[in-house]
Amino acid sequence: MNLPSHGANPSHLYKASGVDEPEKVLDFSVNTNPLGPPDWLKERWAGFLHTIEDYPDPTGQKAVAAIGEKFDIPYDRILLGNGAAEIIHFIARYAAGQKAVIVAPAFSEYEEACRAYHCPVEFVSVPPNNWHLPLDELAEKAKDAGVVFLCTPNNPTGQSFQEKDIVSLLEKTGDSNAMIVIDEAFYDFAGDNSLVKYVNAFPHLAVMHSMTKMYAVAGLRIGYVISSPGIISKLKNYQPHWNVNAIALQAAEAIARDEVHAGKTRALIDSERIRMKDKLEQLGFAVMPSSVNFYLMKEPLLADQKPLLHYLMERGIVLRHTENFRGLDGMWLRTAVKKEKDNNELLNALTEWRNKC
Ligand SMILES: Cc1ncc(COP(=O)(O)O)c(C=O)c1O
Repeated sequence: MNLPSHGANPSHLYKASGVDEPEKVLDFSVNTNPLGPPDWLKERWAGFLHTIEDYPDPTGQKAVAAIGEKFDIPYDRILLGNGAAEIIHFIARYAAGQKAVIVAPAFSEYEEACRAYHCPVEFVSVPPNNWHLPLDELAEKAKDAGVVFLCTPNNPTGQSFQEKDIVSLLEKTGDSNAMIVIDEAFYDFAGDNSLVKYVNAFPHLAVMHSMTKMYAVAGLRIGYVISSPGIISKLKNYQPHWNVNAIALQAAEAIARDEVHAGKTRALIDSERIRMKDKLEQLGFAVMPSSVNFYLMKEPLLADQKPLLHYLMERGIVLRHTENFRGLDGMWLRTAVKKEKDNNELLNALTEWRNKC
């Protein structure tokens, strides 16, 4: 059985699993903001439409300027992508044919992009129950690598690496050839602290952000990378002209200037995540710590979580399988933190599961 390699679009999972899809499905496999896009953005949609007759600005100048102001970074250190996913492919192309090192478990797109550009891939594994960067192993592997991918806060574990360890990695790899890519697609769920503040000090650092997750705009496709002018100008060689559409550019500019949505979201997510962890542990499930809008959980009585995944799917609740996450291999389920009412539906289904065990 070949399960889909990403969360969201639950129909694909139902089909691949041979489970009949009920009429109503609650999708906990998608890890975007459960509050949806901010109201102010929805109110402005219609006003963005007038731009679609013209080609968008290929440099995305206004959006780049807004991102630059947010992080106090000059425009020549910023490159926009059609989602962070496109940036991952630019980076893999930049490292084409060279060794790629991936800290696992990790977003599957790093490996797919690297393999597409013939990079031999090596992994450095971190167990979710001992979440520390294996600094020496990583620095050793990075010596002859073209690129190192590291995701913090991590998808799929929801945990963050210690900042001092990342700085130490940057120091240890300073005279290697490797670009150190830190994927911060979820950084704003964990607080305001971004590693972007280190790009001046470390020219081989590239920090990736996505607007998809916090702003629930997966369909718009907006991501960006911040790095040294040298790396940015090389990545630009792979950027198709007009890669970010006109509506996305306007949304990106407005989102970069927003100061409210992330804070409001964090308040909801933090309290719901803590509540869910408590309740699930009381029911006898194992739950990993997390600083973001999803967490790993499992039924400790099962090695492979498929029976629980299918049980929930039959009840219209879809969690994210972890079969294609190296090091998790189906032994955990990734679960989004949603609104209280939806989280309660998950709790009710899991209470029923526990009662029948
Ligand atoms: C860790 C991580 N990085 C990057 C991406 C890609 O984000 P985008 O929607 O901006 O392409 C995702 C999407 O799931 C992700 O989980």
